[in-house]
Amino acid sequence: MIQTCLFPAAGYGTRFLPATKSLPKEMLPILTKPLIHYGVDEALEAGINNMAFVTGRGKRALEDYFDKSYELEEQIAGSSKEYLLTEIRELIKNCTFSFTRQESMKGLGDAIYTGRTLVRDEPFGVILADDLCINEEGEGVLSQMVKIYEKYRCSIIAVMEVDKQQVSNYGIVSGKFIEDDLIIIDNMIEKPNVNEAPSNLAIIGRYILTPDIFEIIKNTKPGKNGEIQITDAIMTQAKNGIAIAYKFKGKRFDCGSVDGYAQATQYFYEKLKNDCK
Ligand code: G1P
Repeated sequence: MIQTCLFPAAGYGTRFLPATKSLPKEMLPILTKPLIHYGVDEALEAGINNMAFVTGRGKRALEDYFDKSYELEEQIAGSSKEYLLTEIRELIKNCTFSFTRQESMKGLGDAIYTGRTLVRDEPFGVILADDLCINEEGEGVLSQMVKIYEKYRCSIIAVMEVDKQQVSNYGIVSGKFIEDDLIIIDNMIEKPNVNEAPSNLAIIGRYILTPDIFEIIKNTKPGKNGEIQITDAIMTQAKNGIAIAYKFKGKRFDCGSVDGYAQATQYFYEKLKNDCK
């Protein structure tokens, strides 16, 4: 039912300079796969086949990654290394990829608005690839959210509890619990100070949005840091109707930070070693 996943991928990744001087941050690898590949895997697992990217200048490597590399294919065909391409070949076969560019960095809300031509008038998923999510116990986070969307038919955002001192790094949500892990949102603030945070439930980079969000973003004034915030637009949906926050099952690594990136690398390396045993 959800057919498209939008990947806002226009940010500079300044925390990873100098690596991100000429490499999109979404192409930083966790072991042998770039971050964006993990995001696309998660969308595909949720039954989504159309992958739509909002990129910017200097991000061409993303397009090349999701395309055939004839020279490489020819070099590697029949060799002992060919199996290393199996996963990406499968991905390319099973998805369509479309790209558009954000003109200037005006915030996540603006990036999502830029993607409207790729999404059309349908509900869609959003994955911020630098939030790497896994669920050892079962289905991935976006897949869990699709199920909730099917029941409630409104925008769904993934949240997790964070330490009080961390709230100013996230969009923070509060509301009424309707199930153990589902909250009808009544307040959302983008990166609040500790003393104005309505809770410690932090938004992570997974959303399902209904298409009315585009009209709302168009009418949303710049918020925190002078940027158009998706948090503010979803708050309008919550005010005018309903939006739901979901405490997802699984783990999330903040690969937009060096700490989180190192933890994710360690986690996947341990997993690889165990799988080889
Ligand atoms: C964005 C959102 C924020 C959310 C975060 C999750 O912020 O604006 O609400 O908590 O992603 O990673 P960013 O980290 O891009 O500044």
